[in-house]
Amino acid sequence: MTGPGPAPAADGLQVLPVRGLPDFRPGDDLAGALAEAAPWLQDGDVLVVTSKVLSKVEGRLVPAPSDPEARDAFRRELIDEHTVRLVAQMGRTKIVENSLGIVAAAAGIDASNVRTDEIALLPVDPDASAAALVAAFADRGLRVGVVVTDTQGRAWRNGVTDVAIGAAGLPILDDHRGGVDEFGNELVVTQVAIGDELAAAGDLVKGKLSGVPVAVLRGLDAPGGVFDGARSLIRGPEEDLFRLGTDLAIERGRREAVLLRRTVRFFTGEPVDDEVLARCVGIALTAPAPHHTRPVRFVHVREKRQELLDAMAQQWRTDLAADGWDHERIERRTARGRVLADATEIVVPFVTGDGRHDYPDDRRRSAERTMFTVAGGAAVQALLIALAAEGLGSAWISSTIFVPDVVRRVLDLPDDWEPLGGIGIGQPEDGFAPRPPVVPGDAWVQR
Ligand SMILES: Cc1cc2nc3c(=O)[nH]c(=O)nc-3n(C[C@H](O)[C@H](O)[C@H](O)COP(=O)(O)O)c2cc1C
Repeated sequence: MTGPGPAPAADGLQVLPVRGLPDFRPGDDLAGALAEAAPWLQDGDVLVVTSKVLSKVEGRLVPAPSDPEARDAFRRELIDEHTVRLVAQMGRTKIVENSLGIVAAAAGIDASNVRTDEIALLPVDPDASAAALVAAFADRGLRVGVVVTDTQGRAWRNGVTDVAIGAAGLPILDDHRGGVDEFGNELVVTQVAIGDELAAAGDLVKGKLSGVPVAVLRGLDAPGGVFDGARSLIRGPEEDLFRLGTDLAIERGRREAVLLRRTVRFFTGEPVDDEVLARCVGIALTAPAPHHTRPVRFVHVREKRQELLDAMAQQWRTDLAADGWDHERIERRTARGRVLADATEIVVPFVTGDGRHDYPDDRRRSAERTMFTVAGGAAVQALLIALAAEGLGSAWISSTIFVPDVVRRVLDLPDDWEPLGGIGIGQPEDGFAPRPPVVPGDAWVQR
């Protein structure tokens, strides 16, 4: 349960250290030790408990080599083992998501405040640990709330702070959305992470080295009932604008850009932004080409679109009739070739003779022509990838290659412009995701 409540500690807040606690070991009675060390606990108090003591009493200690170097290597192995997702990495520092959904450095695997031959894992379920402690105090007739803390850095901010990774017995996410402030402004996005605020407040008296793993916050009047745990403080992937660290995101984007392209034959018909198209063409024109030339042209066919499609279809029918096909079969076949007609935009790529060297013999003249044609192919592929990276679908269709004269005539283009097919472009009907690369097999030949 979350929701707008009264100011959490309207009459002020006391932050009290619980001193004299032992170094806990697996199986120890934490509630008993706390009750003994803090006989002054009152109804409504909130216990802010360092997750490390729960790790200890719950037996989440892993034996580790005492040698500092070996211990560090072992800790790194443990971190990898407990990593669900690498979020960001800089040098040896890894920010990862662990199985609790918590994004933090080192997956919460910690070698501080434990014996030098041990490493502490986080509690298996810190919300459940908190709830168990609330219940243990309830059995003793005391109504408390519990916040389980861990220390984290934050993006954009120097310094670490304690945050809530487990909670029970009090609301820890105060939702003011839909409320109105004293000036009459509606609060649109304000959710207060009370759990984290309490964790940080508790740390002011606990400290990292002082041997005080538990603080008590007085003044909140924890209701002790059932509330959402600290999991509710974790932002889900669908709302997370920073799901990946910048470097990793760029790296993944680069790696996946080419794999994102695939032939899309069905489009929603939603408009395609001209500026995006122009940007993609600019990217395509960076493709390699012979002799430092730029022999590729992209023609955005709009006004002449229907005329071009009709003229090409007419030539196709004539060709099929010359092959001996009857009328009915011709209509059936041509009815299937509608990808360009159904695309939202059509771009026809050309390779020109600009910069092409001339040779006296056919062999070299033909090789030169091939060289320019393949350069055209490289530019088309670059365009398709750029479109995919913009979320646009594309289909590279052969048709114009078979009817170059018709295309040049309708579009009024010079004789040395060779069409390299047509590209249907539009918003894809089904979204697309990167594909896995192909296993090269016999396409990868060694000599
Ligand atoms: C030069 C060229 C011409 C193509 N012509 C057609 C075509 O006329 N009709 C069509 O549906 N697809 C055409 N394609 C698309 C291929 O069928 C498609 O690339 C292939 O099926 C692999 O699918 P993918 O692009 O999704 O990887 C053509 C592709 C290339 C490179």
